[in-house]
Amino acid sequence: MPQPPYELPRARTIIEPFRIKSVEPIRLLSAAERGRVLEQAGYNLFKVRAQDVTFDLLTDSGTSAMSARQWAGIMVGDESYAGSPSFQRFEKTVQDLSGMENVVPTHQGRSAEFLLMQALALKPGDIVAGNTHFDTTRANIEHSGAEALDLPCAETADTQSEAPFKGNIDLQALARLVEKDSRRVRLVIITATNNSVGGQPVSMENIRGARRILEGRGIPLFLDAARFAENAFFIKKREKGYENRPVRDIAREMFSHCDGALMSAKKDAFGNIGGFLAIRNRELAESVRSLMVITEGFPTYGGLAGRDLEALAIGLEEILDEDYLTYRLRSTEYFGEGIRAAGIPVIRPIGGHAVYIDAGAALPQVPWNEFPGQSLSVALYGGIGIRSVEVGSIMLGSRDPKTGEEKPAPRELVRLAIPRRVYTQSHVDYMIEMIGHLAGRLGDLRGYAFTWQAPVLRHFTASYRPL
Ligand SMILES: Cc1ncc(COP(=O)(O)O)c(C=O)c1O
Repeated sequence: MPQPPYELPRARTIIEPFRIKSVEPIRLLSAAERGRVLEQAGYNLFKVRAQDVTFDLLTDSGTSAMSARQWAGIMVGDESYAGSPSFQRFEKTVQDLSGMENVVPTHQGRSAEFLLMQALALKPGDIVAGNTHFDTTRANIEHSGAEALDLPCAETADTQSEAPFKGNIDLQALARLVEKDSRRVRLVIITATNNSVGGQPVSMENIRGARRILEGRGIPLFLDAARFAENAFFIKKREKGYENRPVRDIAREMFSHCDGALMSAKKDAFGNIGGFLAIRNRELAESVRSLMVITEGFPTYGGLAGRDLEALAIGLEEILDEDYLTYRLRSTEYFGEGIRAAGIPVIRPIGGHAVYIDAGAALPQVPWNEFPGQSLSVALYGGIGIRSVEVGSIMLGSRDPKTGEEKPAPRELVRLAIPRRVYTQSHVDYMIEMIGHLAGRLGDLRGYAFTWQAPVLRHFTASYRPL
């Protein structure tokens, strides 16, 4: 028997670093029941009732399980209209994390985006560059009249390469852009992790590089910090010099290179709702505060209840627990590896919050205009009860309103996003096992055709028929 402290080998089994004291049943429907649900929903998973889903992997946004401490925070939340102590706790937490003086709560990430673009008074001809804008960010930039320009690094293009920081911005392209068009570039946003390219992380070297390029040019650098803690932990795991740094310090350093940050707190703050802007420049913050009274509310609550602010302040602390982050990134990776081992191609390396299946490669018999991602999503629900989302030519492609001609997306993907602290290792093992069974039937899957579609954001409301 070894003597204390009993140093044994590290366990291979991933464990959830929490125990459960409140549970919610999930329904296991029969295949026939799921078939009926699909038919009634017009084969659109957005139109399926949540109670008819066994594993809801539609999004990781707003779907986290809150901790006992967060629920306790809900009870002590103070609902004063102005100057609530819950706001003070929230403000101090964000200030400590970001090192930024001005903290403005918002009801979610996209309202922070809207306020920032409006406060910057963007106009046609202006450019907002980024490592790849999330779709609401793009929409808010374009709504202001400016151009949303994506400058992803070259490694992003190869879905199978194992490059460690595929979320990076292309620094050479950024340098060329500001050299050529310094006046037109009004803002640069680095989204970490980079959701639109598969939850891939951004390196510290890359953030520092962007800072250097923008230095002295009067172009602010903002961090989209929706998944800042997952990004910081990837840096700890993958970037030289950071392996022994506490993840909190790494996160602080990420913010330290930026002039401001916007965050959807529905991700790495374990919030069911919420967001914020953190800004160094007082004048810009004052413009945001003046504007927000019209849409969000008074600057010390920003569209949120005091109890939400309390829960978010606690969530922003809890997310930096390294046992949690180890479990989070390892369990997402394990899920992706399991799907890949079952013979279904996935984007490499596995990102922080989601596994992306390459449905175009998995279903070569289904052409892009018969929507392989839709076909695979429907099969994942019909066969297993998993709700995923197509990220392919339905969501990102388009239809010419005059000719009816469809334009393809760059890739046909299916995203399986993992809610935080919600599903256990045995849920993941069950899904991998069942996806293994489905993998043997992929050759039987057929495409889909629209029976109805809206002119914009059609994926939310469309109906389909199997071909
Ligand atoms: C990177 C990123 N930025 C912004 C947003 C928008 O946040 P919200 O949904 O809270 O409006 C999201 C949401 O998914 C996101 O992933």
